Amino acid sequence: MAHTITLIPGDGIGPEVSNATMRVLAAAEVDIHWDVQEAGAAVAEKRGITLPDEVLASIRKNKIALKGPIGTPIGKGFRSVNVTLRQALDLYANVRPVRSLPGVEPRFEGTDVVIVRENTEDLYSGLELMIMPGIAQSMKIITERASIRICEYAFDYAERLGRKRVTVVHKANIMKLSDGLLLECFRKVAQKHPRIEPAEVIVDACAMQMVKNANRLDVIVTENLYGDILSDLGAGLVGGLGIIPGANIGSEAAVFEAVHGSAPDIAGKGIANPTALIQSAVMMLQHIGEHSAARKIERGLLTTMECGTRTVDLGGSASTEEFTRTLCDAVSRA
Ligand code: NAI
Repeated sequence: MAHTITLIPGDGIGPEVSNATMRVLAAAEVDIHWDVQEAGAAVAEKRGITLPDEVLASIRKNKIALKGPIGTPIGKGFRSVNVTLRQALDLYANVRPVRSLPGVEPRFEGTDVVIVRENTEDLYSGLELMIMPGIAQSMKIITERASIRICEYAFDYAERLGRKRVTVVHKANIMKLSDGLLLECFRKVAQKHPRIEPAEVIVDACAMQMVKNANRLDVIVTENLYGDILSDLGAGLVGGLGIIPGANIGSEAAVFEAVHGSAPDIAGKGIANPTALIQSAVMMLQHIGEHSAARKIERGLLTTMECGTRTVDLGGSASTEEFTRTLCDAVSRA
């Protein structure tokens, strides 16, 4: 079956890893027509806007997008395109599986934990003001609706994927109202899923547990900011940002993208690791029912890693081009 999918190459290393991912998908013989859309700094220079209406219209029409990273200026400048996109399309669940890969030196063997991050509110609501010179305020918004919805997603996901436990990560000892509301919603939803064991952990203790025994947490459900930070910690556990995929899921559309950013420090050098976006594309294929192609890419990736073809971030010496070529060959044979 042919699929039309929106592709946002993004900026920094985005075009390099997007190009590699399209080649790997072609090697897996999935019939995809790419509807290429520009967003971020590149389009801002040309048109003065970072997220043109046609990008949102394309995703709404095609329902599925693959997205490269888009940089956000720090402390000033335009609002994050990533956050705007997630909020505009109500992509409420950000799913980030943190798993070790063979041939990659992990901190611990066999790490396998999934982070389900609420993607539309919390401190990412973008509501900030200077109350007076020298005093800034950011608003943390937590709603019952979004908390119930993300907890339901996490428990359903755990049941569907045969996981045993869902752990809510919070700081309700300090933020008794906002994080307290998430906790209350989690407990309500947990009662409807007796086959899954519910667990609760405070975010600072969770950071320690992730380093000591991440698998105990199994499926983490948490707010936007904690999820953002914990997923980079998870990336560090299994070899780095170059390998961790992600999916932004809503009821109308889904956008698949790596956890990493636009990596301006290595952009244009030909050494970016495309694995994270390729693994995000595997999640995308599973989402659209292309399971055989997804398995082909997974097998190809295992073979490539086991043979020792690794990019620089993983301690290897392969360029993006060499890695992609080796992987495409392995996928064609898988
Ligand atoms: P980053 O993830 O871009 O880079 C952190 C470090 O990891 C850098 O040393 C980079 O070279 C390395 N790295 C990241 N991805 C890699 C890959 N695929 N292969 C090899 N090395 C890789 O994080 P940073 O520097 O904090 O952010 C850069 C920009 O990206 C910022 O403007 C930020 O706002 C944006 N960003 C965008 C995201 C998105 O589009 N979803 C997510 C996170 C950050």
